[in-house]
Amino acid sequence: MSDTESMTVQTILLVDDEEDIRDVLSISLEDRGYQVYTAENGQTALDMYDQMKPSIVITDIKMPGIDGIELLRELKRRNPDIEVIMITGHGDLELAIQSLKLEATDFVTKPINDDILDIALKRALDRMQMRRQLRAYTENLEKMVEEKTRQLIDAERMAAVGETVSGLSHAIKNIAGGLKGGAFVLEKGITLDNKTYLLQGWEMLKGNVDRIRNLSLNLLDYGKAAAMQYRLCDPNQPVREVSKLMVPQMKSKGILLQTELATDLKPICFDPENIHRSLLNLVTNAFDACIEKNACPEKQVVILQTSKPPGWGVEYRVSDNCGGMDAQVREKIFRTFFSTKGVRGSGIGLMLTNKIVKQHNGVIEVESQPGLGTQFSIRLPERQS
Ligand SMILES: Nc1ncnc2c1ncn2[C@@H]1O[C@H](COP(=O)(O)OP(=O)(O)O)[C@@H](O)[C@H]1O
Ligand SMILES: [Mg+2]
Repeated sequence: MSDTESMTVQTILLVDDEEDIRDVLSISLEDRGYQVYTAENGQTALDMYDQMKPSIVITDIKMPGIDGIELLRELKRRNPDIEVIMITGHGDLELAIQSLKLEATDFVTKPINDDILDIALKRALDRMQMRRQLRAYTENLEKMVEEKTRQLIDAERMAAVGETVSGLSHAIKNIAGGLKGGAFVLEKGITLDNKTYLLQGWEMLKGNVDRIRNLSLNLLDYGKAAAMQYRLCDPNQPVREVSKLMVPQMKSKGILLQTELATDLKPICFDPENIHRSLLNLVTNAFDACIEKNACPEKQVVILQTSKPPGWGVEYRVSDNCGGMDAQVREKIFRTFFSTKGVRGSGIGLMLTNKIVKQHNGVIEVESQPGLGTQFSIRLPERQS
């Protein structure tokens, strides 16, 4: 017997119509440490099985009334895991094979040899043990999967923190570099009393102060993004504000910012400041794309549109006719700190915009063709649940 099986006394139900066999076999089984019940026919065996629930049944194959095969079938119907050892006579090979097909554990031929019976019993016990282990393993598996998933999430979170810190250091290092350069030129201007240097240094300082302001504003929003302040507002309002803010800057660089506002929009619930910031991020990116003169047409245009798609509260669209992105860039744009703008970019804008839209249960999509332009769309739901 295996270690675990030997700890508990196993019960056996012995079924045979011959009294002598029942007597001899039950003595020999009891000697081996089993608790044995006997039945003289199939029907009694079934009744006893229901009451005693033995772990193993040993049954003669040929019996009047319900025979061994029938009993086996009935027992397996009641409990597919029951171990049934068949006792066969000489020439019962056909029946023996049939019983194995019906999932009998083993068969032993009369006259019963103790060693062969031992082998059959060991087989039954091994199968019981295996089943128990399998059950325990399946139960554990669920716990293991849960634990592994938690470990994976922790690891991912740690990696994200690492990425955030290194991305941030990079962005700050760039700005610090810019500030240092500006200060150097400014100092030169002071020492040499050179107005050109003074102005140049001053412009560099100002630009970098703007960048640090933008970075910290975006980071502040990133931290705050968890709590949106939903209000019932006109969806066109943030577009008007962004346009007012950006038109003069863009015009000074020869870029047209055009707004096309839908007139059939109803007020919906959204966070006007965060949507303002999202649209500003999209327009700023379009502006940046236009400024990078490569692959830009003569007339650079950025269009900011609203519309009312069925089932949605509003759709914002920001399109430009400059630059565009290839598939490789497009795939990464929503990642934290992904930027193709070198020291001028922070790579926070789209990550933040994406997060804000998702928090609104909205959808953000991008279509872009290298050299032709880019179109971002943001759809917000009619109501926040
Ligand atoms: N309208 C656009 N045209 C071309 N590329 C764009 C556009 N909008 C975004 N991108 C790409 O997505 C990247 C990430 O944008 P963003 O998260 O705002 O960071 P940043 O503007 O600081 O680079 C940009 O660096 C750029 O490569
Ligand atoms: Mg940006």
